[in-house]
This record gives sequence, structure tokens and C-alpha cells, in this order.
Amino acid sequence: MPLHARLKISLFLEKKNNMAVKDQVLQVLTSTQNLQGFVSGEELAQRCGVTRASVWKAVESLRSRGLKIEAVTNRGYRLLENNTFSAEGISAFLADKSANIVFFETIDSTNTESKRRLAVTEARKLHKTCVVAAEQTDGRGRLGRKFVSPQKSGIYLSIIYSCRTVANPAVYTASTAVGVCRSIEKLFGTETKIKWVNDIFLQGKKVVGILTEGVTDFETGMIEAAIIGIGINILNNPLLPQDVAGGLLSENEDSAAKRNELAASVITEVCAILDGGEKSVKEAMKEYRNRSLLLGRTVEVSPVIGQTENNFICTVKDVTDDAGLLVVMPDGTEKVLQCGEVSIHSEKMCYNE
Ligand code: BTN
Repeated sequence: MPLHARLKISLFLEKKNNMAVKDQVLQVLTSTQNLQGFVSGEELAQRCGVTRASVWKAVESLRSRGLKIEAVTNRGYRLLENNTFSAEGISAFLADKSANIVFFETIDSTNTESKRRLAVTEARKLHKTCVVAAEQTDGRGRLGRKFVSPQKSGIYLSIIYSCRTVANPAVYTASTAVGVCRSIEKLFGTETKIKWVNDIFLQGKKVVGILTEGVTDFETGMIEAAIIGIGINILNNPLLPQDVAGGLLSENEDSAAKRNELAASVITEVCAILDGGEKSVKEAMKEYRNRSLLLGRTVEVSPVIGQTENNFICTVKDVTDDAGLLVVMPDGTEKVLQCGEVSIHSEKMCYNE
């Protein structure tokens, strides 16, 4: 093989290996972060199966992406806690490299910003653009409600997903709920439950809300892009309605460092389900049922929001593959609900104003 071709191949391999080393180094540093200790260059090299020089290169590359990594002679490396919530911080943890992060300290609403972008740029060019904010001044929930989005306590993000493999917005919402639960479980080891169709609960309190909006192509009538808005309360905040909303972590836990990692993980998990098409969405729907708060419960349904005269009581039997709620009426007949507000009978479970 000619020399230039061999050089090209070895350069390519080096680059590929270097990327993998960087991700491995980050993984080791993240897993030891809470122990407050340093990891020596030698141990990092051993654990990643590379030389110390490669570890150093990987650390430099992570730093260039905005991560704060301390290096102390004779002690080694450690990931600092004060990694701020930022595009670089999220990107450093992002396994799905095709996603693109756009970050705002404060914005009216990440869903509204996504719509503004879709109004001026072709949807396919914005595929997997993720608008993330540390605060929203006009966060929106389902059915025209407000989503309280104070700074420092949450993650507010919207994924623009422009692909026609999943046509039903409710399926996007349900798949997203599963992706978010998976991420929370991976990072915090806590099992969360889903209340049809878009709320995630932890110990009886709502910790995540999801709002999926579709942008339609007028000519074809098809959904051109979905804007999947996800609001996660990492910490509780006095501005949230205390009777129904809660946080994922308790007040004294450090949320700053975790926000980058959780945002990256949510984006990766959600996109992986949607990229996987019908098969992975079907698997996600199975998991959705297992995580459902409502199965087997007697619920009160409000088909028209804000009006109680049409409310009815029924029992939840299943969630269909297209994210409908299959209920049994008091006379034994079954029906599938595609929308509406559901509350567990005699419990208040919606916190949007
Ligand atoms: C709900 O609970 O009804 C859905 C809440 C969805 C909130 C998220 S936060 C990020 C995105 N931007 C918004 O304005 N809303 C969604």
C-alpha cells in the first residue's frame, strides 16, 4: 500500500480512537465526580486501555468543549462540580453527535423559539436542532396553559424532529416520556411513572411535562416537523405549585453539574427511539404501559377542558400502540381516548394553571 494511503488510514484510526478515549475519560471522571477525589493519569490510562499521553489529549479535547477539568501534579484529574449549564457542557455529554444544541440563559419559550426558526429555515435543515434554556419567561403547557419555568431549578428544551417515520404527535409525546424516564433512571437511579399522556411523576409529584407541537406542510398536509418540548424540574422551587409539582433531586443535591448530563441523555434517548422507527417506538410503547400510573385505575375524564358537565368516570384498561387511552365505561363498553384531561378519581393530578 502506498505510504500516503497508509498515513491516511492511521490518521483516521487515531482520530476515531481519540474520540472514543475522550468519551471513556469523561465517563470515568463523571462516575468518580461525587467521590470528590482525583483519578490519576495512570488509572485513567489503564481503565481506558490507552497511554497517558492519549489521556492528556482527551482531557484537552474535553476542556476545549467547555468542560472544567482540574489537573493536579501527583494526584491526577477531576471533573469540577461547577460546570455551568451551557451548549458546550451539554455537547460534551451528547452521545448523539447529529444533534445540535442552541442554548439560551433565558427565553420566552423553547417551543416558540423552535417555531420561529422553522418559519425561516427548511425543516429538514433543522432536524435534531435542540433549543435549550435555563429559564423560560413564557413557558407553555398543554391546552394553552402556562408552564412555570424558573431559573436554576429546571431544564427546558425542545427537540425539532423532522422525519416522517412517526406521523402521530401523541406517539412522539409517549416515546419522549419513555426516553425521559430512561434517562432519569440511568442518571439518578429513580423510577418515574407516566400519567397519560404527557406527565412524568415521582413520588406523587409531577416532575416533567411534555408538549409536542406539529408544524404542517400546507401542500402535503403532512407533519413536516415535530417540536418536542420537555420541561424537567430538577429541583423543587417555591414558584412551582407545591401541592402537585416536585423536583427530581432534593435541595441540597448539586443540580448544576447534572443538568448538562441529563439534557444530553434525554436528547440522545428520545432521538434513539424516534430514529429506530416503528420497531423501537413499539418497544417504547410497551415500556410506556409498564410505567403507566393509570392502568387499572378509575379515572375522571374531562373531554372538554374547562367544562365539567361532560365529564365521565371510567376504568383504564390499556394504552394503545398509537398512544390512545383504552377505557371501560360503567356499562362495560370500551372506548379509546385520543385527547382529554384525565385525573385519578378524587385526586388532583394536573398542576398547570
Ligand atoms: C405540560 O405539562 O402541559 C407540558 C409542559 C411542557 C413544557 C416544556 S418546557 C420546554 C418547552 N417549551 C415550552 O414552552 N413548553 C415546553
